[in-house]
Amino acid sequence: MEGADEPVPGPWKDEVDRILIPASRIARRVRVLARRIAEDYRGQKPVLVALLNGTVVFLADLMRGLDMPLEVDFLRVSSYGDGMVSGELVASGNLKVNIRGRHVILVDDILDTGRTMNHVIALLEAEGPKSIRICALLDKRSRRVVPVEADYVGFEVPDCFVVGYGLDFAERYRNLPFVGVLRDRVFKKRGG
Ligand code: IMP
Ligand code: MG
Repeated sequence: MEGADEPVPGPWKDEVDRILIPASRIARRVRVLARRIAEDYRGQKPVLVALLNGTVVFLADLMRGLDMPLEVDFLRVSSYGDGMVSGELVASGNLKVNIRGRHVILVDDILDTGRTMNHVIALLEAEGPKSIRICALLDKRSRRVVPVEADYVGFEVPDCFVVGYGLDFAERYRNLPFVGVLRDRVFKKRGG
């Protein structure tokens, strides 16, 4: 992948093995996604529903690229599991925005097995939106268990655990400006 040879910045060298997607490349791609979304929803006022916490960085960049009226709301979905093996999904907190009859764009950091999106779509559909589309920064297609397709995808990534630009490992690394792959020993130690 382009940029894969970019060196890992000093402070992260011990923990991050390599950069998968450099910040500059993310920025360019997010602008393209925003332009596409803005064209598709021209004349509408969509509601961006973002899943916490992983989307904060992506959402902040994406929404500033959308030159149109919109609303933003958040959902938190937790899984009873160890964070890597998907357990039972539970949504906590409700939307503040009434999405009945509205165009919803569901924003997530990464589409992995698809279980989270599948669960959230069912929750949102019960509230009667006019439409729901999915926007995911990353897509790990090879891991899909539930058939969910994103309408807007930033990058397809291989089956390895990635962190940065919002994505965490045990709540760390969300603040990396790039998407990177952790060193094996960090990953195996499980964030201790
Ligand atoms: P899914 O329900 O299996 O599609 O999982 C989606 C959620 O799992 C994402 O919103 C992430 O929080 C988390 N996740 C899956 N893969 C990764 C990864 O490689 N790095 C960090 N988080 C991940
Ligand atoms: Mg997450």
